[in-house]
Amino acid sequence: MTGAELRKSFIEFFADRGHSIVPSASVVPWDDPTLLFTNAGMNQFKDVFLGKSTREYVRAVDFQKCIRAGGKHNDLEDVGRSPIHQTFFEMLGNWSFGDYYKEEAITWAWELLTERLKLPAERLWVTVFREDDEAELLWQRHTGVPADRILRFDEKDNFWEMGETGPCGPNSEIHYDLGPERIGRNEDPGHVGGANGDQALEDPARLVEIWNLVFIQYDRGADGALTPLPSRHVDTGMGFERMLTILQGVDSNYETDVFRPLMDHIGELSQHAYAEGNTDVAYRVVADHIRALAFAITDGALPSNEGRGYVLRRILRRAARFGRNLGLSDPFLYRLVPTLIEEMGAAYPELPATQDKVEQVVKSEEESFGRTLDHGIELFEDIVEQAGAEGRNEIRGEEAFKLYDTYGFPVDLTQLMAEEKDMTVDMAGFEAEMGQQRERSTKARVTAGMPSVTADLKVENPTRFLGYDTLAVEDADVVTAEGGSVVLTKTPFYAESGGQVGDTGWLETESGDRIAVLDTTRDGVAIIHHCDPESASDLKPGMTVTVRVDGARRQSIMRNHTATHLLHAVLRETLGAHVEQRGSVVAPDRLRFDFSHFSAVTPEELNAIERRVNELVWENIGVEPFETDLEDAKRQGAMALFTEKYEDRVRVVRIGEMSLELCGGTHLGATGEIGLFRLVRESGIAAGVRRVEALTGAGAYEAVKRDEGLVAGTAEALKSEPEDLVKRAGDLTARVRELERHIRELSTDSARNWIDDMIGGAVDADGVAVAAGRVDCPDIDTLRAMGDTLRERLSGAAVGVLFASFEERPVCIVVVTDGAISGRGLHAGKLARDVAAFIGGGGGGKAHMAQAGGKDASRIDEAVEQAPGVVEQHLRDA
Ligand code: ALA
Repeated sequence: MTGAELRKSFIEFFADRGHSIVPSASVVPWDDPTLLFTNAGMNQFKDVFLGKSTREYVRAVDFQKCIRAGGKHNDLEDVGRSPIHQTFFEMLGNWSFGDYYKEEAITWAWELLTERLKLPAERLWVTVFREDDEAELLWQRHTGVPADRILRFDEKDNFWEMGETGPCGPNSEIHYDLGPERIGRNEDPGHVGGANGDQALEDPARLVEIWNLVFIQYDRGADGALTPLPSRHVDTGMGFERMLTILQGVDSNYETDVFRPLMDHIGELSQHAYAEGNTDVAYRVVADHIRALAFAITDGALPSNEGRGYVLRRILRRAARFGRNLGLSDPFLYRLVPTLIEEMGAAYPELPATQDKVEQVVKSEEESFGRTLDHGIELFEDIVEQAGAEGRNEIRGEEAFKLYDTYGFPVDLTQLMAEEKDMTVDMAGFEAEMGQQRERSTKARVTAGMPSVTADLKVENPTRFLGYDTLAVEDADVVTAEGGSVVLTKTPFYAESGGQVGDTGWLETESGDRIAVLDTTRDGVAIIHHCDPESASDLKPGMTVTVRVDGARRQSIMRNHTATHLLHAVLRETLGAHVEQRGSVVAPDRLRFDFSHFSAVTPEELNAIERRVNELVWENIGVEPFETDLEDAKRQGAMALFTEKYEDRVRVVRIGEMSLELCGGTHLGATGEIGLFRLVRESGIAAGVRRVEALTGAGAYEAVKRDEGLVAGTAEALKSEPEDLVKRAGDLTARVRELERHIRELSTDSARNWIDDMIGGAVDADGVAVAAGRVDCPDIDTLRAMGDTLRERLSGAAVGVLFASFEERPVCIVVVTDGAISGRGLHAGKLARDVAAFIGGGGGGKAHMAQAGGKDASRIDEAVEQAPGVVEQHLRDA
């Protein structure tokens, strides 16, 4: 069974049992700040489990792209050493949202494994949570697993949690016994229930976990407490590649059909064959890591120095370093991307759509790391030698830090390399060096006058925000003013939040100084006005200032914010209720809105959306913000971002019947003030996430005028009226095509004549016929084609030399017949070089055909004349 067939079987099995087929979510969980990467199929349903949102279905099935390389579930360090671990893998899963429970989950899992996939029942083992009598009983009653193959374990093995917080519950795992014949062939397939499993089998290393059934019942809070959920759910996850390993009877995930092409391609690029106990680790690391990189980049993540970007950077560097073990030192990872896409593109169509981007990002990361990797490896070798001389087997913290700081070696890479030498790294020392560096960079940032980290601002009372109602306040007192960060008792300045950018404007002192505010942010209860430290240096706590927001800019921001709410509502109305906000930017000059949607928005849909928003503008609907409590807001159906934490009292913005959203931003009084709304761009930013950008007010008007100018300019250039432009452009294109065809015909005809003439006029050079001449042809491809034809028509020992010039630049093609190559030792590449010398250039090529370019077209005739002489010279030298 192939990978594609396994995906299909699993999906069909559950679809036949009433499950809705849902697409894989992005492997980058843009809407969940608690996760670095999607680590399980259930992530996209987190809110459903927690009772915070609902779906149109209560049963779902999918195959989900996952990465486990950070956070609670992290397999990065095992990749390579283990035949069954990967950072990127696919998870097959089925779910019940408050619908069926343990009985169906267990019965169906058994049926799928033993009947559909035909695994031998006697090879299956099952584990349940220590207290889960119910699950044990169900296994006994509904499947043929004998009691002694059902084992109980405690939280460590049989209580599944998604992360530090979130949905969780007891689970039941199914393990497969690879059989006694597998002993010794694999290092570590794992064993039932981890170390405890030793009691189960004489040789636990034969067992591999294939499917996990989780009975979700609780929410783990930030304080560690378990809160029972309103409903009970089923969340299952089957390891796709592990299952394939079993079904295909191979020794590791990396030998299944989903990995085969990648492994083969690595073999082609590398100077080392795959060898167990030797290069196998490097092969697996490279194959796994390029998959993780390609999928993450496709879904919008990029290597960087922070958070998930840094995990990607580490993955790439780990792969590049292992590439060295295979003799691969030039960038090579990016070259694997087409092979990966060929294998996975059908299941994940977003991959081929971003191929260029993935290749570019990977290649440029490889290039920048490659430059330092070799030096870093040298330094590492020195460090090891030095340590050896001192009788240490630990790499010092400062040494690991130097590798990190100067050569970009993630510390886990250093650890890994140390391990290969039976050494360790002083991690505490390394962390201490990192801490010092962080301190240095914070100081540097403050002195550079950038919005600083304001953790040490001692502000106790909340800044009063008056900016919903006014743009100027005359009697605000300074609370603190340090390094350009000014906090006041009250302010009309809106601090950046919820996508709306911070206000700018001025602080005016009583002595008449005017200090520009460049940005506004919030830190805890304080609203911080960011000013140039120099100009704000005279502000002291207790001083009274007048505060003025840049009103025109704020008005533009409000236009864009109110328009964003209309756009959100219209997107849901037009595309469907699955549209959920994923992010937004509300700035003075534009607005940007990211939302969930599975295909590109068509031009027709975009037109309809733009028109509808404008109709709502023309209706001039009043915008009414009000305060209420969170529960009431939800009852009224207010839209909210459930990834945000809201206070109990919330602000809601209502726009007539059209829109109701939780929002702290500033808005217009009525939609008419938007003036005009134009959508300017639609694009995909990650799988299932689209982005639209729009303009309002003066910006939209300018865009219309610019387009009008383009139309008028084009009409003038094409000597047409704007209204006839489309027809005119079509006519012209057709005419150009016609002319091109005509030219081609003429050129081919005349080329034939030319060639005949040239052969007729060939000059004898010491027994070799030299046909040289100048031709007229439209482009270099035609010239080459003429060279081919000339060569075919020449017989015996002969040389043809064709010259042409394109935009004043001379080009020459030299062809040599087989007779002249083998019989007389002539070589087109060498002839071309000497012939081109006459036209001030050079070139080269193969023995039978070569091309040369030059600078001086005025000397072509001379070169034609000299060609036989050059041939004679070569014959003498041959
Ligand atoms: N969410 C469960 C897992 O990842 C099924 O193992």
